[in-house]
Amino acid sequence: MRMRRKKNLDGRIDACEGYLLTLVSEDKNFETAVENKDYLDFTELFGNDNPVYLEIGCGKGQFACEIAKQNPDFNYLAVEKVGNVIVAAAEHAQREEIPNVRFVKCAAEYLPCFIEDHSIEGIYLNFSCPFPKKAYTTHRLTNERFLKIYKQILKPGAEIHQKTDNMHFFEYSIEEFTKCGFALKNISLDLHNSDFEGNIVTEYESKFVAEGLPIYRLEAYLKEE
Ligand SMILES: C[S@@+](CC[C@H](N)C(=O)[O-])C[C@H]1O[C@@H](n2cnc3c(N)ncnc32)[C@H](O)[C@@H]1O
Repeated sequence: MRMRRKKNLDGRIDACEGYLLTLVSEDKNFETAVENKDYLDFTELFGNDNPVYLEIGCGKGQFACEIAKQNPDFNYLAVEKVGNVIVAAAEHAQREEIPNVRFVKCAAEYLPCFIEDHSIEGIYLNFSCPFPKKAYTTHRLTNERFLKIYKQILKPGAEIHQKTDNMHFFEYSIEEFTKCGFALKNISLDLHNSDFEGNIVTEYESKFVAEGLPIYRLEAYLKEE
């Protein structure tokens, strides 16, 4: 079922323009689009030079807003491809006047157009769509083609933190991370019944936990060459 476009979406986007950027590439083919670079200036965007973390597929921004509030000395850029959804995230940040979070409406495929190589401190992948059908494997945000992008934009030694409720997607992600040269640590097969401290619950996570589903979590980092 297609999501109905919310009324007055353009007006809502304009009303929170300080928090929401819409990045559109002229080129609809992301493989050729990435040849054209138009990097975001993080210093201008956040008004400081603090480290920048990225969340990809942020939904309505519950996680990004909370982690930004808890860590005022870091900046958070949260990316989401659906306009109806990300506008709610930007409205949340604006309502709470959170200074160190910004939202970008953009598909992850285009990140290398807008984000300079090796400029990101860490990436959060929270409850990414598992795309269970084989035909959509390449849409999974831990597919090799995305991991190559993350390698390009992450600083050396940076980490990717992934959470999901989907065991098959988790197993798939472990295989992809490993294939692409990432090492894994702090793997949990039941995060909410583990001794992990400081978990920030996302919107989807609270629904899955209420249904009694276990939450899987891992940290991936690049091994030294
Ligand atoms: C299942 S939701 C999870 C939302 C949120 N992270 C949470 O945990 O509550 C996954 C989100 O990822 C977004 N998404 C999927 N593929 C994407 C892509 N290639 N680029 C950007 N966002 C994407 C979807 O639009 C959706 O809003």
